[in-house]
Amino acid sequence: MTTDVQVETIEPVELLIGGEWRAAAGGGRIEVEDPGSRRVLTTAADAAVEDALAALDAASAAAAGWAATPARERGEVLRRTFDLLVDRGEEFARLLTLEMGRPLAESRGEVAYGAEFFRWYAEEAVRINGRYGAAPAGNARILTSPRPVGPCLLIAPWNFPLAMATRKIGPALAAGCTAVLKPARETPLTSRALAELMEEAGLPAGVLNVITTSRPREVVAALLADPRLRKVSFTGSTEVGKELVRAAAGNLLRTSMELGGNAPLVVFEDADLDLAVREATLAKMRNTGQSCVAANRMLVAAPIAAEFGARLAAAIGEMPIGHGLEPGTEVGPLIDAAAGERLGGLVAEACEAGATMLLGAERDLPERGHFFAPAVLADVPADARILHEEAFGPVAPIVAFDTEEEALALANATPFGLASYVFTADMSRALRVIDGIEAGMVGINRGMISDASAPFGGIKQSGLGREGGPEGLAEYLSLRYASLAI
Ligand code: SIN
Repeated sequence: MTTDVQVETIEPVELLIGGEWRAAAGGGRIEVEDPGSRRVLTTAADAAVEDALAALDAASAAAAGWAATPARERGEVLRRTFDLLVDRGEEFARLLTLEMGRPLAESRGEVAYGAEFFRWYAEEAVRINGRYGAAPAGNARILTSPRPVGPCLLIAPWNFPLAMATRKIGPALAAGCTAVLKPARETPLTSRALAELMEEAGLPAGVLNVITTSRPREVVAALLADPRLRKVSFTGSTEVGKELVRAAAGNLLRTSMELGGNAPLVVFEDADLDLAVREATLAKMRNTGQSCVAANRMLVAAPIAAEFGARLAAAIGEMPIGHGLEPGTEVGPLIDAAAGERLGGLVAEACEAGATMLLGAERDLPERGHFFAPAVLADVPADARILHEEAFGPVAPIVAFDTEEEALALANATPFGLASYVFTADMSRALRVIDGIEAGMVGINRGMISDASAPFGGIKQSGLGREGGPEGLAEYLSLRYASLAI
């Protein structure tokens, strides 16, 4: 199979600093590659520390003006961006597919999901209120007023280049904060297009600044050490999240950390099996498995484990693999070659330890991109690495259990606690599991839980704070309390 998708010329991406698009001070460039064909699409400016600090200068200079802008006006900028994003959805979907590989139909889904954060926070901006109350002693009144925390650093990942940026920008700007957005080096195209759209929607210069860099550690460390920065929001690995929290402690920054997962998907014997297989396929294969909420372990009641495995393997096996822009593609490439090598290692180790491969033998894969044949494994030994690491790819290990207690113990046997999924027809059991499962999010009879109006986030080593919903807005606000003598 070859990949022969025609791609238009894409303008080089520059840094957005204080309303001007400019090259990096040192002139450095980063190549932007299409993972579905390994073609270089264009280049992006490679920011150095001085560019990052210039972006923070701009965010600081714009901070007072944006905080004082009436909430209705801030909300209207977000609402106009929502409308523009929906109008230009196809253009954004194509960019997403080109820079990170996923099938076009799924990229359309990301545009709809990502745009929703602007609509939701446009509506929330005007509802940021404090409270007025009486001190119990009767000698004072209590007045609280939420204030924007100040300039924020928003670090977005490559796997959802639009939605993870809008999930941060939406609440930050609604709250009255200004920002420096750092998209992943692999995916600068969508962020550039989004920032242009926000300029068109009337966002004042300096409120949103965008920098790409091949030296994130150095550049981010300089920003975190600058006392003008007041918050960092990060989506990415637990390892990097811990480093950021340590560095953010220097200036006691507010932090929101959306980190790694190891989501269990539990199927009880009483579950509707058609539904469970369909939703498990979605929970596993969305974004070719490259999502922190992807089902990482399928825990299935022993009497139905063989049938579930066979049906899951058939469903995943039927999904056409190809370049994301080829019509009909349902499984795209991985982000890079290293991801495929890591996944191959996890699958091989599990098989050597005794797992049975239900799917994953040779498939006819496109030649040029970073493609990986999806795998479904049964009878995976409890200590196999594949059950303990976030695969971040299209591999589904299945483990059988006998009792509800065992299912919960297996589900919780991980230091992570982001998403989880449970399939059962018994609502009492569902409620017991919601109480007992160690995860920030639980899908009951659903394989897709992400929603702009809901608090997305984890417990244990999956992170701190929440994104989305009113909870996501609170992360960008600090409370001022005034005591009024009467
Ligand atoms: C992620 O994988 O980082 C986020 C996925 C989502 O928001 O659904």
